[in-house]
Formats: sequence, structure tokens, C-alpha cells
Amino acid sequence: MNKILVATDKPFAASAVNGIKKITEEAGYEFRLLEKYTSKAQLLEAVADVEALIIRSDVVDAEVLDAAKNLKIVVRAGAGYDNIDLASATAHGVVAMNTPGQNSNAVAELALGMMVYMARGAFNGASGTELRGKTIGIHAYGNVGRYVAAIAKGFGMTVYGFDPFVSADVMKADGVIPVATVEELYTKCQYVSLHIPANDKTKKSIGKALLSLMPKGATLVNTARKEVIDEEGLMEVFAERPDFKYLSDIEPGCKEAVIANYAGRFFFTPKKMGAQTSEANNNAGLAAANQIVAFFKDGVTTFQVNK
Ligand code: 3PG
Repeated sequence: MNKILVATDKPFAASAVNGIKKITEEAGYEFRLLEKYTSKAQLLEAVADVEALIIRSDVVDAEVLDAAKNLKIVVRAGAGYDNIDLASATAHGVVAMNTPGQNSNAVAELALGMMVYMARGAFNGASGTELRGKTIGIHAYGNVGRYVAAIAKGFGMTVYGFDPFVSADVMKADGVIPVATVEELYTKCQYVSLHIPANDKTKKSIGKALLSLMPKGATLVNTARKEVIDEEGLMEVFAERPDFKYLSDIEPGCKEAVIANYAGRFFFTPKKMGAQTSEANNNAGLAAANQIVAFFKDGVTTFQVNK
């Protein structure tokens, strides 16, 4: 009997856990749960004899894959899979998948929520600004970027998009103005919302050169990964531009310096929480369970990311 482990440092909503359990048990598998673990040793022990693993931002590296002797498939219930060592998974004969799109709306709502919060001075009662009529640039027009664009349009913002992998026609059909270069995006937009993945090409790619192009009153919104920011450049922009604000779903490495020096110009969630809604947990968790069942029963490898 296949054993399916849900290993989530940051737990899913109970309804999602129950749904995953139901799907896996109805398929004839054994369901196991490891939540809020406090050491890697607990994870290494829990994976020892399971055939399938569902994770969130939990790190699956060579050590975990070495320990998981029977593992055939790991599904990251979410979009970004930078927490999985893909080369090692392939070397171990383990299929790695994600569940693209399933938690995107939750992340997008957080992006716009942080923007409203900052535009209204953290709801401190003083006079703030509105989003209507402002420009926003969607940096990477994937699943989350599309939701952000749609909600921003609802706010009456003018939406620009940059994504070398998405055709201009797709953006135009959504009422988004495509731009040809990333520099043009930052030059035109008072708000930029980041939706690029974290990989060797994108890490530290957002720094002073791009942020300095943004018009007065610039706000960078990061619900992607903190690793894509060049924090040295970010700190220089904070120092040189009193109008610049930074909103991030997770605290950056430079948080102490920002807190000490730039009050009122930032907001950081204490823990990554873009996808922390029961809806997103249900969508991504159940999709992960269904993908595992389809993989074992029919060999379906849709959404495999280490092909
Ligand atoms: C994702 O990549 O799907 C999001 O960053 C959500 O990550 P989480 O599952 O750790 O909340």
C-alpha cells in the first residue's frame, strides 16, 4: 500500500488536510501527516518509508531524498518549486510536480491588500492616497500576475505587463498594456508587482538599476520570493528616495535596517502568507493529492517540473 505523507511546516487549513486524507484513503493509500515540525530530523524520519510526499515551502534537498528510500513522487502544493532540489530528485528517480494556479488568487489578493494598507498609511487615520488612476506593472504575467492585473483593473489602475514568455496579444486581451522591456515597465509604473520565480537567472535581479527608474511615489510589491531582490541595491534606493516604499510577503534579510531607518515606508508579513487561505489550501492540497493518485494509477505526469 502506498503511503502518502503531508509534511508542512506551515500547516494547511484543516479542511484541506481532511480533503487530502479522503482522496488518498479512497484511492487505497495510507495517509500520514507531519505538521509544524521543529527539526529536519523529524522530516528525515517521517519520509523514510513513504512513496509520495506533499509539501509547501518545505525544503526537499539531497539529504531528504536520500532518506526517502521509497519515494516516487513529491508534489509542491503551490507554484514555486525553488525549495526542491530538482537535479537531486531526478538523480533519485523521483518525479517532482507543482500545482500551478491553485493558490494564485490568494497571493494576488494579498498583493492588492498590502497596497491599499500602505496607500492609506497603515490605516492610521491620516489622509492617504488611492489606487485609482495609478499605474501598476506586472513583472511576469503568469497565474498570480493575471489575478493581480484583473483586481488592479477593478481598482481603476492602468495595468502594464512585462513577460518575455507571454505574447502581447494575451495581455491585450486582458486589457493589460504590454511593454517590450523590463526597463520600460519600471519607468512607467508607480507600483510594480513581482511575480518572477527564484532561479539562477532571477536571484538578486531586482535592484537599484531598475528601482531607480520608477516614477515618484514608487512602491515595489513582492509576493514572489525575497531572493529575487538585490537587498544592497534596495537599501540604497531606500536611502536615496524618500518617496520609495517596499511591501514584501516575508521579511527580507535587511529587515532590521529598514525598520530602524524607514518607518512608514514598508510592510513585511512575519511569515510568508500569500497562499495562507483555506480556499488556496484546499485548491492546492487537493490538486496535489489528485495528481499523486493519477500518477500512481495511470502514470500521469502533467505538471512534472523535473522532466
Ligand atoms: C507558492 O509558491 O505557491 C507560494 O509562495 C506559497 O507558498 P506556501 O505554500 O509556502 O505558502
